[in-house]
Amino acid sequence: MSERVAILLSGGGSNMVALLDSMTGDHPARPALVLSNRANAGGLEKAAARGVPTEVVDHRPHGADRAGFEDALHARIMEYQPDIICLAGFMRVLTEGFVARWQGRMINIHPSLLPKYRGLDTHARALDAGDAEAGCTVHEVTAALDDGPILGQARVPVAQDDTPGTLAARVLAMEHVLYPAVLRRFAAGDRTPVWLP
Ligand code: GRF
Repeated sequence: MSERVAILLSGGGSNMVALLDSMTGDHPARPALVLSNRANAGGLEKAAARGVPTEVVDHRPHGADRAGFEDALHARIMEYQPDIICLAGFMRVLTEGFVARWQGRMINIHPSLLPKYRGLDTHARALDAGDAEAGCTVHEVTAALDDGPILGQARVPVAQDDTPGTLAARVLAMEHVLYPAVLRRFAAGDRTPVWLP
């Protein structure tokens, strides 16, 4: 029996595509759902084009009621009975209540070498700090933002003339390698971290 994977996103979904495209052959998981909090997220069309069910749960009608949004999110996700949730550019902070429901079964990709640069603007912050290398991290999701056990990291050298944009593009290319590699292990029940390159 394959593990069923739900992927949550808010944007273009390039990581989602990399994950979907990896789940073939002897991979221990298969996609069950791609869900967005934004109806206009580009990732939804890409998932549908690949024959994967899509859903939208808009956070806006819930206003400041995060628990209300997360209840709706959880209910919609459960219709697809996933075993694993992959966050892939899902731009909503999840509360302890939601995280607890998926503890040990929800993973996220973040564009920095955690524990450095939790939150936003990671590439600009790495450049401002004069870091010689940047990268990305896949980690288990816990209640603390961009925290939780590290399941893999990919390192990318910083070039002298890098801008946040050029660095982001090189890191993103490595995200597309790292995330599928981690998901394959994670879905097989192996939490040994993946270190790239
Ligand atoms: C990626 O940089 C990811 O690390 C971050 O959000 C971005 C999503 O990009 N969490 P995409 O939608 O997968 O192209």
